[in-house]
Amino acid sequence: MSLDDTKVLVTGASRGLGRALGERLAARGASVVMMARGEPELLEAVAAIRTAGGDAHALVADVTDDPARLAGAAAAMVGPIDVVIHNASTLGPVPLRPLSDTSAADFARAIEVNLVAPFNLTRALVGAMVQRGRGLLVHISSDASVEAYPTWGAYSVSKAGLDHLARLWAAELEDTGVRALAIDPGEMNTRMHADAMPDVDRAELTAPEVVAERIVALLARGAPSEPRLSASALREATRETAEGEPSQEASA
Ligand SMILES: NC(=O)c1ccc[n+]([C@@H]2O[C@H](COP(=O)([O-])OP(=O)(O)OC[C@H]3O[C@@H](n4cnc5c(N)ncnc54)[C@H](OP(=O)(O)O)[C@@H]3O)[C@@H](O)[C@H]2O)c1
Repeated sequence: MSLDDTKVLVTGASRGLGRALGERLAARGASVVMMARGEPELLEAVAAIRTAGGDAHALVADVTDDPARLAGAAAAMVGPIDVVIHNASTLGPVPLRPLSDTSAADFARAIEVNLVAPFNLTRALVGAMVQRGRGLLVHISSDASVEAYPTWGAYSVSKAGLDHLARLWAAELEDTGVRALAIDPGEMNTRMHADAMPDVDRAELTAPEVVAERIVALLARGAPSEPRLSASALREATRETAEGEPSQEASA
């Protein structure tokens, strides 16, 4: 898929992986709608892309807002959305805690943000994609979707659901020209990682810009046929690109 003139909606785009995806997509000619709640950080991210010559737009919103309003606002900014990247995510309260110490409200909120919101937003966008016979639904997952790490609770459950949501969309949309996949980005030096694991040596972590370049390179070549990519599969699939990547210097 050529990214030139592609209209992309990225959730959670004010920092970390989402911001880096917005930057890399815009650098390859996509028009990008960047969504997050925190206005100053989001406007700063969008301004940086515009200064670099890219086409980016800020949609200040919570992913759990009315999906029809979110989809309509995004389309009003750039035209019909071709690609949605469900990247926004919450860990729930930190420090992370065992399930037995997790309130029902906190559990439900993580599922709402990480799983129900992507489902709702896709539902609001996918009809137009099917009508045009093209579209891509990208779900940013985690290895917590397949591993039962103690204390990762609701986040882990939500990501397992997100993987399967991607598989189901892929199966149900098989003959429509609309593709769906989940991608585990691997560990990255971002605020989310610092919140979850404050004691980790940040210098050991991959910069989100490096992972974003891998994902965008993959999308530019066309979505892979398997509906879930592990972090190692993503690295492997984009190894040639990775050799020309920027250094992994920590930046988030
Ligand atoms: N970092 C890692 O090591 C790692 C590993 C595996 C998977 N992942 C996945 O990678 C993705 C990106 O994570 P990250 O590490 O880049 O996180 P991050 O730096 O904390 O960024 C999260 C982004 O999501 C936005 N966001 C959070 N809740 C939102 C909501 N309710 N509505 C709208 N936007 C919301 C945040 O902005 P506001 O707070 O301003 O809304 C921010 O822009 C996530 O799906 C995460 O699960 C990360």
